[in-house]
Amino acid sequence: MTLPYQFPKDFWWGSATSATQIEGGASEGGKGKNIWDHWYETESNRFFDNVGPETTSDFYHHYKEDIQRMAEIGHNTFRFSISWARLIPGGRGEVNQEAVTFYNNVIDELLANGIEPFVNLFHFDMPLELQEEGGWEKRAVVDAYAQYADECFRLFGDRVSKWFTFNEPIVPVEGGYLYDFHYPNIVDAKRAFQVAYNTMIGHAKAVDAFRKHDVKDGRIGIILNLTPSYPRSRNPADLRASRIADLFFNRSFLDPAVLGEYPQELIDLLEEHGHLPQTKKGDSDLLKANTAEILGVNYYQPRRVKAKENLPNPYGPFMPDWFFDMYEMPGRKMNPYRGWEIYEKGVYDIMMNLKENYGNIPSFISENGMGVQNEERFKENDEIQDDYRIEFIREHLKWLHKAIEEGANAKGYHLWSFMDNWSWMNAYKNRYGFFSVDLETKERTAKKSAHWIKSVAEKNGF
Ligand code: BG6
Repeated sequence: MTLPYQFPKDFWWGSATSATQIEGGASEGGKGKNIWDHWYETESNRFFDNVGPETTSDFYHHYKEDIQRMAEIGHNTFRFSISWARLIPGGRGEVNQEAVTFYNNVIDELLANGIEPFVNLFHFDMPLELQEEGGWEKRAVVDAYAQYADECFRLFGDRVSKWFTFNEPIVPVEGGYLYDFHYPNIVDAKRAFQVAYNTMIGHAKAVDAFRKHDVKDGRIGIILNLTPSYPRSRNPADLRASRIADLFFNRSFLDPAVLGEYPQELIDLLEEHGHLPQTKKGDSDLLKANTAEILGVNYYQPRRVKAKENLPNPYGPFMPDWFFDMYEMPGRKMNPYRGWEIYEKGVYDIMMNLKENYGNIPSFISENGMGVQNEERFKENDEIQDDYRIEFIREHLKWLHKAIEEGANAKGYHLWSFMDNWSWMNAYKNRYGFFSVDLETKERTAKKSAHWIKSVAEKNGF
């Protein structure tokens, strides 16, 4: 029987996580420090409820049972990231054998349970020593990253075929160099663009390294948080504001990653304001030759944009904000438990844009999800009744299905996240998982959505 929303054969059902957010064991197994360990040690008050990344959901000790649970709810794919500071403490040099054993165990356990591992190399967690050298602002750090990537392909490429260079590379730029919500808390647009640019050079170098390995059915790509930009009106000023927001927040990564070059309009804007990053001879060829073969799309909310009423004079440090303001669309649907707009059609708009303007690159929803504060209040008979999450996923899937019917090359859907986890400065404020985690005992409990996704995955639709 065909269901109203039947997905293509071999559709990827799963969820996404990241090392710092789920592993714990921050000072175990020979792991070096990353910027999160350091920032928490020096400024714990910046983290919600003063909770840091030492233990988090403790996947480091619970991975076997967690992978069993993934299999039970029908996952055929699962994304995790490798902690650079765990694999190579200090960021360059010797590989830590305990880390190799840990990641080997995770990969083997996944495969034994019929779950394909999707491995991401960098999810905001710069080794501390490399940040102290200047982090992504320095080419030497980019080279260290390319070596780390190469090491990962060598160690795990015999069993892992789907690789991602970065998760949401714009976030360390915004958080660390523009809006002060990530370490190193610098506010400087020129430096921010250097970091953004160098990250893409890192991406291209990692892709280049990947292609020198013989990874069976290997595909390498990047995961971007795409926030479709919608103008307040069709008047030219609003349209321009929206186009510029799109240039900065989507196309500054999407174009070099998928098309191998930056949009000319972005280059012109940066040049006009003296914000062009330093480049090296050969960079353009490197970018052009090493584009992504697969694209992960993290989609949470759209960006509603209007023209700026008054241009700041003098211009402040936040260059992107010189050109537009955000706008609260009347009647928009909100997630009342997190404060983000919910606009399910965004999934469709993103996918059709990829189809029409980005060569219909193979893609998937690599994160989508609904954060909820104080989620325990929805508990009945020992189970969190997260019907709001079920509805959230279902409505996004309907739009994804429509995009596929119209020819989009979308291969799967991953929820953020498998289980409740620690989220950067927000720590455990917003819960996202199919499973809740008791922070004291680390006990995992399926939410209602876990049972629902199992039936969807089993039927490959709903
Ligand atoms: C995504 C990130 O953008 O948002 C995740 O990739 C993060 O790492 C998630 O945890 C949710 O963020 P928050 O702030 O709602 O907890």
